[in-house]
Amino acid sequence: MNDLANKRIILGLSGGIACYKAAELCRAMVKEGATVQVVMTEAAAQFITPVTMQALSGQAVYSSQWDAREPNNMAHINLSREADALLVAPASADFMAKLIHGRADELLSLMCLARPIERVPLLLAPAMNREMWSHPATQRNILQLRADGAHVLGVGQGEQACGETGDGRMLEPEEILQDVVAYFKPQSLRGRRVWVTAGPTFEAIDPVRGITNLSSGKMGFAIARAAREAGADVTLVAGPVSLTTPRGVHRINVRSALDMHQAVQPALTQADVFVATAAVADWRVAQMAEQKIKKDGSGQVPSLAFTENPDILAGVAASERARSGALFCVGFAAESHDLLRHAHEKRQRKGVPLLVGNIGPATFGQDDNALLLVDAQGHMELPRADKLSLARQLMVQIAQRLR
Ligand code: CTP
Repeated sequence: MNDLANKRIILGLSGGIACYKAAELCRAMVKEGATVQVVMTEAAAQFITPVTMQALSGQAVYSSQWDAREPNNMAHINLSREADALLVAPASADFMAKLIHGRADELLSLMCLARPIERVPLLLAPAMNREMWSHPATQRNILQLRADGAHVLGVGQGEQACGETGDGRMLEPEEILQDVVAYFKPQSLRGRRVWVTAGPTFEAIDPVRGITNLSSGKMGFAIARAAREAGADVTLVAGPVSLTTPRGVHRINVRSALDMHQAVQPALTQADVFVATAAVADWRVAQMAEQKIKKDGSGQVPSLAFTENPDILAGVAASERARSGALFCVGFAAESHDLLRHAHEKRQRKGVPLLVGNIGPATFGQDDNALLLVDAQGHMELPRADKLSLARQLMVQIAQRLR
């Protein structure tokens, strides 16, 4: 996919050890189709060379307002007029302190000040030591930057180059990339609270064994990401999968169907949209053995009794808010044949306004899929594509159906 096709992004680097991550970020944005123009401060060039950044961006790097390559000698005007966004990553504490005063004594801060503020957004990915980050001066500066219209992306948490541990690391390149991509997406779900279930469930037989299924969780994770990109506040209730949580999504990990059922209860009062993609086990073992079931040498196989799990989606769809239309429920159906007929039947049985059908064996674990959307009016197909593209199309369809 080329999520940043036709986008011109100025990637500004101020001084900080996180400059090494800017190399990867630059490469990732180029890979998504963006034209990246790198601008570096003198301090940034202490951490990474302009040669590296030029090679990765495929464009000569600018670092001085006196750069004679520009015929009018006004790089700050020329470059900022062409840009779709100005992203400073890393944004050092000192650089942000400069910005709040509107100082412009080198090219990057000059561009931040000179950019057409209504048309060229300023995104900042701060990076600094934890004490510098939590200092009242920095926190005050961030509030001021936000008030002045900048998008401060937040920071990561963990081990720092200085050997300390805490808040202030620059976000990972992939996280920043997701934020930049999201920035350009239409905000059709802004202010909506979306809950998504994803992945398989695991029903324990004994402490070391259980019953599960082949759901990878990829579709549900793509939906959580697409909903967040569209501006929603997203909670993802995930069965046992090792996928990375999409940026900005609140994740609740569960194991069994009963855990998942319990975890989604707040959605009944809090959510505006509930999307059930999880492949929930229909049955669980009636009585989990406390200890590992051992072979006793007799050749006798153990027999398992099952009990039915709650239908999570049907339960949510039967709630008062769902029936009044305040909570919009979307079900998924993985079928092996007669998709259209089964999808219509399942939509009615589950009591949901929208049901998304797909062919189970053709989607489990795959990176792409094809969807069939079924509602009271009829059906429409979303042809085979990668799961993130389909998830984005599905969000458009959901947004259109919200009151
Ligand atoms: N679902 C759920 N809780 C369950 C079972 C299913 O929330 N205990 C949800 C799934 O997340 C999906 C939809 O219901 O959105 C359809 O699930 P599926 O298992 O295909 O439907 P069933 O009613 O079990 O129908 P069948 O197994 O007969 O195809």
